[in-house]
Amino acid sequence: MATRVLIFGCFVAFASATVKLQEIFSWRVLDWNYPDSYSRQNALASGALTPENALPVGIERWGNKLFVSVPRWRSGIPATLNYIKLDAPYDPSPKLNPYPSWKGNELGNCDTGLNTVYRIKADRCGRLWVLDTGTYGYDNATNLCPYTLNVYDLHTDQRIRRYVLRPEDIVSTTFIANIAVDIGSSCEDTFAYFSDELGYGLIVYSWEKNNSWRFSHSYFMPDPLTGDFNIAGLNFQWGAEGIFGIAPSPIKSDGYRTLYFTPLSSHTEFSVSTSILRNESKVEDGSFNDFKVVGVRGPDAHTTAKVIDDLGIQLFNLIDQNAIGCWYWGRPFKPQNIAVVDKDDVGLIFPSDIKIDDNRNVWVISDRMPVFLEAELDYSDINFRIYSAPLDSLVKETVCEPPARVQLNPHTHIQPQSAIYNTNPGLTWHISNIQNKPRIPQSQRGFLRNPLDDNIIATTPSYIDLYYPKQTPQSIGYNLRSSTESNKGPWWSRPTYDVYEDSYRN
Ligand SMILES: *[C@@H]1O[C@H](CO)[C@@H](O)[C@H](O)[C@H]1NC(C)=O
Ligand SMILES: *[C@@H]1O[C@H](CO)[C@@H](O)[C@H](O)[C@H]1NC(C)=O
Ligand SMILES: *[C@@H]1O[C@H](CO)[C@@H](O)[C@H](O)[C@H]1NC(C)=O
Repeated sequence: MATRVLIFGCFVAFASATVKLQEIFSWRVLDWNYPDSYSRQNALASGALTPENALPVGIERWGNKLFVSVPRWRSGIPATLNYIKLDAPYDPSPKLNPYPSWKGNELGNCDTGLNTVYRIKADRCGRLWVLDTGTYGYDNATNLCPYTLNVYDLHTDQRIRRYVLRPEDIVSTTFIANIAVDIGSSCEDTFAYFSDELGYGLIVYSWEKNNSWRFSHSYFMPDPLTGDFNIAGLNFQWGAEGIFGIAPSPIKSDGYRTLYFTPLSSHTEFSVSTSILRNESKVEDGSFNDFKVVGVRGPDAHTTAKVIDDLGIQLFNLIDQNAIGCWYWGRPFKPQNIAVVDKDDVGLIFPSDIKIDDNRNVWVISDRMPVFLEAELDYSDINFRIYSAPLDSLVKETVCEPPARVQLNPHTHIQPQSAIYNTNPGLTWHISNIQNKPRIPQSQRGFLRNPLDDNIIATTPSYIDLYYPKQTPQSIGYNLRSSTESNKGPWWSRPTYDVYEDSYRN
C-alpha cells in the first residue's frame, strides 16, 4: 500500500526492504509560480490560468528538477512543460514552473513555443527530449503547429534541436503520447521513438542524421477484445487505442537494445530489436517478422507507460488495477512472472507515468485521468499525486528481482556437471550446466552465453547469473566454459573460478 511521507528529505535514503511507493507531492488542483501575485491575478482574470483545467500526465526527474507535463486539453494552461524544484524548501503541493520559460511555452508559437506535451525523457547525455504535438483541445483538438521534437540541454536550459516530423511520418488520425530514447555507442548515436496510438505507427528519429521515418505493423493495433475499461468506478471504451507504452531494454550482446511496446487496448507485450528500427531501409524491406510477440500480461492489464532499468527490470502502470507492475526480462513473459510492486485504490487511480532516475529511484504520477475526461474531478479531494521509491526495494522478494550476479575469478572450480554453491548462510544457489545443450554448436563453446537467446554475453567470463531455485525451479544455466578451458585433460588442469555475490546486491 502506498503510504504518505511527510518529511521530504528522507525519501532518497530508504534502506528498508519493505518500502513501497512514498507519496512525495499531492494536489487537489494544480497551480503555477508567477513572478508576482499581480501577474497571477491577471492570468486568472484573463483566463490564461484556469487551474481546474490542468491535468498532469507526464513526469521525469533530472538533477534537482522534477518535470511535469500538462497537456493543453482545455483553456487556461499557462505552460505545458513544467518542473518542480526538488532543492526548494519542501512544499507538499508545490506550484509548477514553466520549462524552459514562459516564452518557451507560448501557445500557437510554432517556432519557439510548446503547445501540448505528453511524456518527456531525460537522457544520460543531459538532454531532455520533448515532443510537442502542436495541438490544443481534446475531442475538438485543433492543430496549431506541426508535431515537433524539441531537445533541450539540461545544463544550460537551451533548446539544442528542433525537428518537425515529416508529413510522411504522420497520418490523419495520428496521436502521439509517448516517447523513448535509445542511446547507442555515444551521445551522437541516439535515436528517439514515438508511438502513434491512433495512427498505429512507430516513428523513429535519428539524432545523428536529423531525420525520421515511420514503421507500420499490425502489432501496433488494438486488440478488439480488450477495449472495455473499468477505472475509478467508471466504465468506458477505449477500443481504438493502439501502440502506447514503449521502452528500450539495456544494450544486449549484439550491441542493440530491444524496444518493448504495448497497445493500450491490449494485454499483449510485443518487441522489436532497435537494429531494425534504426535502419530506415527496413521500413520498405519486409521487416514484418522482426516484430515479436513477447507474451500476455494477463487480465486487467492495460498499460500506457513502461520503463526498463539497466538490469532489465521493466516497470509499467496497470491502469485497471490502480497499480504498478513489474517483469524481469530474463524470465518468460507470462502472468506467473509478473508482479504488482504497489497498489492503492485511492492514491494510484490512473498512474499515468512512471520513470526511473539515475539514482535508481522510481517516480510515479497518478492523475485520475478517466474521471477528468469522462466525468468531473472533485476539487475538494486530492486528485494528483507523485510517488517515489528506490527500484531495488520495490522489486525485492518479487518475481521481478533479478538473479544475484556472481563474480567469477580464475580460482574456483566450476563442476562440469550442475553444481550447488553456498554463497551465503541459508542461501543455496544452483548453477545448472548447459554444456550439453544441443543448440550450442561445439565450435561456439568457450563463450559465456545467455541461454534465452543464445547471444554471447562475454568472451571472457566475468560473471554469471545465478537463479535462486525457490523462484525458478527450472533454473536457467549459463555456459561456464571459458575459451581456454577444454574438455581434454584431467579436471585439475582446467581453469577454475571463485564464486561470490556481487557487491551491488548488498
Ligand atoms: C473544445 O470544446 C469545449 C467545449 O465545447 C470548449 O470549452 C473548448 O474551448 C474547445 N476547445 C477548443 C480548442 O476549441
Ligand atoms: C534538423 O532538421 C530541421 C528540420 O525539421 C532543421 O530545421 C534543423 O536545422 C536541423 N538541425 C540540424 C542540427 O541539422
Ligand atoms: C539495413 O537494412 C537493409 C535491408 O534489409 C540491409 O540490406 C542493410 O544491410 C541494413 N543495414 C545495416 C547497417 O544493418
